[in-house]
Amino acid sequence: MAHAGDETSIAKAVVPAAGRGTRLLPATRSQPKEMLPVGRKPTIQHVVEEIAAAGMRQVLLISGQGKRAIEDHLDRNTNSSGEGHQPWMDLHFFHARQSTPRGLADAVAVAEPFTASEPFVVALGDSIIVSHSRVPLLSRMLSEHAKRRPAATVAVEEVPHDAVDRYGIVAPKGKADSVFTIEDIVEKPSPGEAPSNLAAAGRYVLEPAVFDAIRRIEPGVGGELQLTDALRLLLKEGKEIVCVRLHKGEHRLDIGNFLSYFRAFLELSLADSEHGAELRRWARTWLRRSGKKQ
Ligand code: G1P
Repeated sequence: MAHAGDETSIAKAVVPAAGRGTRLLPATRSQPKEMLPVGRKPTIQHVVEEIAAAGMRQVLLISGQGKRAIEDHLDRNTNSSGEGHQPWMDLHFFHARQSTPRGLADAVAVAEPFTASEPFVVALGDSIIVSHSRVPLLSRMLSEHAKRRPAATVAVEEVPHDAVDRYGIVAPKGKADSVFTIEDIVEKPSPGEAPSNLAAAGRYVLEPAVFDAIRRIEPGVGGELQLTDALRLLLKEGKEIVCVRLHKGEHRLDIGNFLSYFRAFLELSLADSEHGAELRRWARTWLRRSGKKQ
C-alpha cells in the first residue's frame, strides 16, 4: 500500500462531478449520480478513498445544480456512526460550481485558482478504479509523473474495439507496455478511425500548462470542450504525455449509464466482505430458478 507523500509532492486532486446524469433518470431526478451507492458506499466516497490512499491532501469537487448531497456526504460532521475514522475523512474538501456543464475541459478549467500553478490529479467522479494491485493505479501514475515530468500522465485501459467511440483513445508511440508515451489522443473516434483500443480511464495527472491549452481549444465532440482536445494540442506542440495502463487486477467501473451502473453495483455487492458470500449463493439460486421459468 502506498502512503502519503511517498510518490511525489502532488497534494491536490480535482474531482469533476458536474454532469447532469440524464442517462440515469429517474434515479437522478433529485440526487447526483455520484451519490448512487455502489455496494455500500456512494460512488463519490469510493473516489475520494482512492485519492486519500494515494497521499493527496486537498480535493476540489466541481459540481453543479442539485449536487449539494455530495457536499453533505463529505462533510466532517456528517453522522458516520459505526464507520469509525477513515483516511478520506482527513482530506480537505473545497467546492466549486460549473453552472452550465460545457464539457470535461471546462470543468477542469474551474480548478485553475485552486491548483495555484502546481501539478494536480483529476479523478472523474463517476468512475471507480477497482484495484488489487500492491501499488494502486493513482500511486503508480504519481511516481511516473514525478520521474518524467511530462505535460500529463493519463490512465488507460483496454476496451473492446467496437466500444472505442465512447472514450478518449490514445495512439502509442511504440509498444504499449505498462507505461508508454503517445503521439496522439482522439475523443470518441469511430472504430474505423481509432488509433488503438486503449482508452483514457478517468484518472489524469496534469501540469498547469493544461489550463492555457484549454483556453485555446474549440468545442469538440458533443459541442463540449474536451480535455482530450487540450491534451492533443499539448502533444502537437511537442509536449510529452505518458500513459499508465491499468494492471490485470484492475478495472474501471463507470456509473454513467444503467448497464454499467448495474454491473458496478452487482460487482461490489457480490464482493462485500460481510454479505458477499451469502449474496453470491442467493444469486446463483435465483438465476437458476428464474432461468428455468423462461
Ligand atoms: C470522458 C472522457 C473520455 C474518457 C472517459 C472515461 O468521457 O472525455 O476521454 O475516455 O471519460 O474516463 P465521458 O464518459 O464523459 O463521455
